[in-house]
Amino acid sequence: MTDRDAAQGRTEVLEPDEDGIRRAAAALRAGLLVAFPTETVYGLGADATDGVAVAGIYAAKGRPSFNPLIVHVPDAAAAERVASFDGRARELAAAFWPGPLTLVLPRRPDAGISDLVCAGLETVGVRVPRHTVARRLLAAAGRPVAAPSANRSGRVSPTTARHVLDDLGGRVPLVLEGGGCEVGLESTVLDLTSSRPVLLRPGAVVVEALEERIGPVDRGGPDPSRPRSPGQIGSHYAPRARVRLDAGEVGEGEALLTFGPDPREGPRVRNLSPAGDLREAAAHLFAHLRELDATGAHTIAVVPIPGEGLGRAILDRLRRAAAPREG
Ligand code: TXA
Ligand code: MG
Repeated sequence: MTDRDAAQGRTEVLEPDEDGIRRAAAALRAGLLVAFPTETVYGLGADATDGVAVAGIYAAKGRPSFNPLIVHVPDAAAAERVASFDGRARELAAAFWPGPLTLVLPRRPDAGISDLVCAGLETVGVRVPRHTVARRLLAAAGRPVAAPSANRSGRVSPTTARHVLDDLGGRVPLVLEGGGCEVGLESTVLDLTSSRPVLLRPGAVVVEALEERIGPVDRGGPDPSRPRSPGQIGSHYAPRARVRLDAGEVGEGEALLTFGPDPREGPRVRNLSPAGDLREAAAHLFAHLRELDATGAHTIAVVPIPGEGLGRAILDRLRRAAAPREG
């Protein structure tokens, strides 16, 4: 049993005094999950630079698929270390941060953000929350913190520490108490990665307020080539190579993505987790797919992956990659 497993099974609620903030920040730096208040909803946080910690978010939530997660930072300067800002992004950051606005921007490869946070994409969602407890935690942690809402998958977002305990009690080691959430609704998500800004999720910062600063915003709409539901933004990472699931032998010209003890190795072989640990496998998934794709193999053969726990989200992503492509 690892330290991280040992931390499961018991949830401690920390008061947001100096000692509580210090302990929560230390836990994040040690790769543990911490639920914390923001002005929108409580978030389930992990060090965004630690892929195994981020995989723990999916395990705790029981989320069946990998969607990109929002990276929380204490101020705009920290956000600029994670993402590339243009004039529009700076204008919106100056107007609405700290506050309930998430900007999707090109990610900076040197920021060390885990591929799992961005679900393999070259973009990253960043925000500077306004809640004082969140701001003190982020400043003390000194790391960007990935955090979706702190609820079990399929349940509503929590707006009190009690809600978090009802959903995730026993599944996360620490909850930082911060009272009720002022906004009670997730942040507005705006995609600024193309010339036309696109509203990906409406929220407390209304689209008219954004348009006052940067001009017309695409509100989504009936264009079928642009699905709008979260996690389906038409921007999922997919390898160029074909993906063949439940593979036994590796064929001519194929690369191999394996899992668990497997003696096969070589330039076209990657093992998601030789120990058979699904958290480690999730943390490696996108980087390994990318590396195998870069070998020029026409097909990536994937050994059978166990379908329980985090294995479901891993398989979901692999099945999407294996599905026939349009065009
Ligand atoms: O209010 C909030 O935003 C809360 C609190 C905890 O900050 N967080 C939250 O996170 O709602 P989450 O993971 O439940 O929602 C993230 C949303 C999803 O709709 C996701 O698809 C979108 O942001 N998103 C994040 N990064 C993205 C990216 N690189 N590209 C496109 N969409 C992205
Ligand atoms: Mg959510």
